[in-house]
Amino acid sequence: EKITISVIKADIGGWPGHCKVHPALIEKANELLGKAKEEGTIIDFYATYCGDDLQLIMTHKHGVDSEKIHGLAWNVFKEATEIAKELGLYGAGQDLLKDAFSGNVRGMGPGVAEMEITLRKSEPIVTFHMDKTEPGAFNLPIFRMFADPFNTAGLVIDPHMHMGFRFEIWDIKEHKRVIMNSPEELYDILALIGAKSRYVIKRVYPKKGHKLPEDEPVAVISTEKLYEIAGEYVGKDDPVAIVRAQSGLPALGEVLEPFAFPHLVSGWMRGSHNGPIMPVPLKYATPSRFDGPPRVVALGWQINKDGKLIGPVDLFEDVAFDEARKKALEIADYIRRHGPFEPHRLPLEEMEYTTLPGVLEKLKDRFEPV
Ligand code: 13P
Ligand code: 13P
Ligand code: MG
Ligand code: MG
Ligand code: MG
Ligand code: MG
Repeated sequence: EKITISVIKADIGGWPGHCKVHPALIEKANELLGKAKEEGTIIDFYATYCGDDLQLIMTHKHGVDSEKIHGLAWNVFKEATEIAKELGLYGAGQDLLKDAFSGNVRGMGPGVAEMEITLRKSEPIVTFHMDKTEPGAFNLPIFRMFADPFNTAGLVIDPHMHMGFRFEIWDIKEHKRVIMNSPEELYDILALIGAKSRYVIKRVYPKKGHKLPEDEPVAVISTEKLYEIAGEYVGKDDPVAIVRAQSGLPALGEVLEPFAFPHLVSGWMRGSHNGPIMPVPLKYATPSRFDGPPRVVALGWQINKDGKLIGPVDLFEDVAFDEARKKALEIADYIRRHGPFEPHRLPLEEMEYTTLPGVLEKLKDRFEPV
């Protein structure tokens, strides 16, 4: 029998600014999801935060894109927004872009990663939660987990993984997707996903002949682009992901290893800067320096035979990631000294805020031919 894991998140108000989720919002989520669990709508849940994004992790039997589950999440965000308004939190309701819920939250503002899977005898998973960045920030680490033998020893030495994986890649500007095979099309895959603001890995699947069903994802990433949904800037689409581990898949440590390198991502201050992504435990998921640098939290779970979430283990709460944090801070110092210059500041077309049209308008009579 299959169960579905859904991670649905939204920024419905920051405390203060864009720093953190206020505990009263998490309390509200716990209350409403607790009720839904008692009523049997969901099997289990955990509510938490990463920066200013409220994170709902749920297991249930309704499949992906379920009106019931998305409606539940929407309702949590709506009710928590009322509290956010009362507390005067910053940008209360920022990610709820439409007033009325119409079936599912995709395209409405909240970010969603979900997968329906046949549980293995033991089902270790990791949920990743990022703040101050965009979905393309997952391209490099997901690629490393499932396609890079220098990261994942299992690709070389585990007979169940040696065949590689399939990548579902979305063109988020043209709204098209393509499924590609690794390792056969490795260089073509990289040609796309290296352009991380446009091509994003949406899912990873096993190949035919793998011991897991080839139509059930082993990784899924949220790919909502908020600024395109609203037609203007409303907050960068701080993404989430679910990754299954072990037994024919990357081991837990192979899933986490890519984050030992704090790669550069876009986001940070005003969603308009490049900076390193810092792997942190929850207690440090409070981006404050120049509203960053961007953060990633990894929560580890075992899902039991009933679909219960046994966890979380706060996986970056390990001294083994101290050097990555130190490196991220060094890079942050270095790149910050560029101030408003590229490539710290994003190129014009990727900034979420820009005064350029206004500046050009003001100068339009003063520009002369050269
Ligand atoms: P254990 O021997 O601790 O089970 O670890 C096995 C493994 O595959 C680690 O990657
Ligand atoms: P969030 O996307 O986390 O709300 O951050 C927005 C921002 O402008 C930070 O400076
Ligand atoms: Mg915010
Ligand atoms: Mg955020
Ligand atoms: Mg946001
Ligand atoms: Mg953002």
